Amino acid sequence: MAKLAAVIMAAGQGKRMRSATPKVLHRIAGRALIRFPLALAKRLGCFPIAVVVGHGREAVEAEVRVAPGGKDARFVIQAEQRGTGHAVLTALPALKGYDGPVLVLSGDVPLLDAASVRKLDKAHRKSGSPISFLSFVPDDPAGYGRVLREAGRVTAIREDRDCTPAERRVCEVNSGIYLVDAGFLRRSLRRLTADNDQQELYLTDLVSMAAKRHSVPALDAPALTVAGVNDRADLAMLEAAVEERIILDLMEAGVTVRAPWTVHVDLDASVGADTELDPGVTLLGATRIGRGCKVGTGCVITDSEVGDGAVLKPYSVLDGAKVEAAAEVGPFARLRPGAVIGERARVGNFVEVKNTTLGAGSKANHLSYLGDGVIGERVNVGAGTIFCNYDGFMKHKTVLEDDVFIGSDSQLVAPVTVGRGAYVASGSTITKDVPPDALGISRARQENKEKVGAALRATLKARKEKMNKGGGR
Ligand code: UD1
Ligand code: MG
Repeated sequence: MAKLAAVIMAAGQGKRMRSATPKVLHRIAGRALIRFPLALAKRLGCFPIAVVVGHGREAVEAEVRVAPGGKDARFVIQAEQRGTGHAVLTALPALKGYDGPVLVLSGDVPLLDAASVRKLDKAHRKSGSPISFLSFVPDDPAGYGRVLREAGRVTAIREDRDCTPAERRVCEVNSGIYLVDAGFLRRSLRRLTADNDQQELYLTDLVSMAAKRHSVPALDAPALTVAGVNDRADLAMLEAAVEERIILDLMEAGVTVRAPWTVHVDLDASVGADTELDPGVTLLGATRIGRGCKVGTGCVITDSEVGDGAVLKPYSVLDGAKVEAAAEVGPFARLRPGAVIGERARVGNFVEVKNTTLGAGSKANHLSYLGDGVIGERVNVGAGTIFCNYDGFMKHKTVLEDDVFIGSDSQLVAPVTVGRGAYVASGSTITKDVPPDALGISRARQENKEKVGAALRATLKARKEKMNKGGGR
């Protein structure tokens, strides 16, 4: 395919979304809408790529800048959104010196594929028309511009609100994806008038201008590939379609997905072969799950990495964590940013780990908080262990060297180090370093008072009986 330039229109507010967020920043399977046309333009080798921004401009620009292909985008500011024709008119300076066909994309049409554009490009070049576009037949054409034809030839695109009742019955609609020769854009956009119900400059009016002398190609595209997002229902519908594709691709790549309609996987997540995803699993962001893993029901995993053969038991929540090969996590574990669970290590129920490395083969099986720590290999962290990492102002580090054993219900007041092979007795509050191979113990010495238990029981029993007789509690 010969060279194309691209204009991505993304300045509109998207009133029908009823949102404080600009429409093109709403997400489908984890990716902002604006990323889709941007990636397509990049994939087609378009240059330059002009992105028309306006409503929520700073946020939209920030998203484009960090998106793949975004560094090459040229931003054009459309301060006042006076319609799609005005948007492209505003973009013309960014196309200076370019003379070929311009691919006009909408920021709110996410599923367009390269093949449809290539087909359009072929038809465009063959036709000699200065403009061509993709049309489609949606289930419900309401809201779209209708493609008007006479004896089969396209004569105009009429917006829904400007249609006569007869025109409104037309089922073929404009997708909002066009190829327009740069020269034609420069000559014609200046001639647009806001002579319509919205008093905007409509890009679609270029079609009737061109149709006076040319046969304008309107290529039928599959509805899903050109469907636009105008409201939240559209957003959900397109996301469901994307999800279905993602899950089918995973299955094809050897992943078992149980109750696939309940599993959600973002576009940027990946899963290795022979991994099993149980019902209700949610994989978000740039999550990478290795091969042969088991991910239990209800696990929610965001921007995390899970090594081959790891087992995540039900209802574990991971965010910015790393779980190495053959480790076991959960059920009900919470791994926060910076948690690194070493090979074959185990993190059990109601354990929260943040910014802490747990070495190979180490275990923290029950009810613990491990924050800002470095834990060596083969360490046993007993039930109810707490790293007291925060003094109200600063975070401090806890170090447990290899082969340490922490007895249950202990607190380690950071900064503190327990040396290699040392023990901490259950119920200790450790405020000083424990040397290697030592036993750290800090709790009151136990005293057993003979018979005092029985005496106490008798006293309490008598007190209760007296209260009951007196009509008290
Ligand atoms: C547009 C088409 C309609 C088509 C539909 C397909 C026009 C006049 N109508 O209608 O024929 O069926 O798309 O989805 O073109 N935008 C700007 N600046 C503006 C106005 C819009 O950048 O001043 C951007 C929006 O952010 C959006 C895109 O252009 O990304 C389309 O705008 P939108 O308001 O959604 O147009 P539709 O009413 O859907
Ligand atoms: Mg739209």
